[in-house]
Amino acid sequence: MTDPRRLRRRQRPNLAGAAGRNLALVAPLPDLPPFPTFRPRRLRRTPALRRLVSEVAVRPSDLVLPMFVREGLDEAVPVASMPGCFQHSMDSLVKAAVEAVEAGVGGLMIYGVPLSKDARGSGGDDPDGILNVALRRLRDELGDTTVLMSDLCLDEFTDHGHCGVLAADGSVDNDATLERYASMALAQAEAGAHLLGASGMMDGQVDAARRALDGAGYVDTGILAYAPKYASGFYGPFREAVNSSLQGDRAAYQQDASRSVADALAEVAMDVQEGADLVMVKPALPYLDILRAVADASPVPVAAYQISGEYAMVEAAAANGWLNRERAMLETLTSIKRAGASVILTYWATEVANLLR
Ligand code: PBG
Repeated sequence: MTDPRRLRRRQRPNLAGAAGRNLALVAPLPDLPPFPTFRPRRLRRTPALRRLVSEVAVRPSDLVLPMFVREGLDEAVPVASMPGCFQHSMDSLVKAAVEAVEAGVGGLMIYGVPLSKDARGSGGDDPDGILNVALRRLRDELGDTTVLMSDLCLDEFTDHGHCGVLAADGSVDNDATLERYASMALAQAEAGAHLLGASGMMDGQVDAARRALDGAGYVDTGILAYAPKYASGFYGPFREAVNSSLQGDRAAYQQDASRSVADALAEVAMDVQEGADLVMVKPALPYLDILRAVADASPVPVAAYQISGEYAMVEAAAANGWLNRERAMLETLTSIKRAGASVILTYWATEVANLLR
C-alpha cells in the first residue's frame, strides 16, 4: 500500500529538477489521507459525478477561426494537407465567415494569398491587396458582430517567403521590416480589422504598429502580439495553405524550442510594454509549459494558436482510423484551455462551436 505522502516526498527532488528556476510556480502537493480512505476513482464513477466536478470548459466564444483568402479564385480550393480547410474565394470566404459567426465563434483571423509577390511584400500594405480587400468586405458584412483579425506579417506577400524584407547579406532586416509593418498596420486598420496579429517576430514590431496606429488616429485598433512564437516543424501545412515561397527556415527570428521559459517571458514583457492588448503563444500543444507560464505572468489576456501541423496530425491519424477524431480534437482544445489560454485559434473553430452548442 502506497502512502501518497511518502510518494510526495520521493517526488520532490524530481519536481524541483524538472521545473528548475521556476520552482516557486510549482504548488505544494496537498496532504491527502492515504488509500483506502482516499479513493480518487469515487468522483469518476458516473457521467453525472464527472460532470459535477468538471473544471475546464471550452466555449465557442473562446475560439478564433483562421481563414485563407486567395486572389483570383472563383471558388474555394481545398488545402490537401489540412482536410476541411480551404483557400477561399472572396465569396466563399464571406459565406464561411458568416457560418462561423452564426456558430458562435469568438473571432476570425484572416490570411491573404496574393497572385503576385515581390521582395518587399507590396501586396501587404496595398489597399487593393487581397488581404485588405477581404478585411473591408468582411467588416462591411459583419460589422462589430465578431472580432475581425488580420495577419500583420509580410511572408504571404514576399517572393522570398520571409516575414520581413531582406538585407544585402540575405538576412531579414529587422528595422527596415518595422517600417513595412507600420504601413501594413495602417492599411489593415483602415480596412476594418479590430485586432492586428503581429506574427513576424521582429524586435519592436508591437511598438512600430502601435505608434503608426496612434499617429493616424486608430487608437482603438488593438494588437494581438505573437509573443512567444517558436520556429516550428509544425507550420508545414500552413506553407501549402498560403502558397509560401519560403526556402529554408525562420530560425534566425522565431524562437528556439530549446530555450527555457525565461526567453518566452522576456518576449511577453517586451510586447506588453510596447502596447500589446493580448499576447499569444504559438504553437500550442508542444508548448503547453510555456503557455502555463505566460498565463500566470501576463497582465493581458492570453491566446494560443493550435497551428496547421497540430490540426493535420489529428486529421491524418483519424483518417487512418488510428484515433477518434472528435475525442482527440476536444481533448487538445481542453488541454490548451487548461494550460491557461482564454482564446484559442483553431482550424476546427466552427465545427467545435457547433458541437458545443
Ligand atoms: C506568419 C504566420 C505563420 C503562421 C501564422 N502566421 C507561418 C510561420 O510563421 O512560418 C502559421 C500558422 C499555422 O501553421 O497554422 N505569417
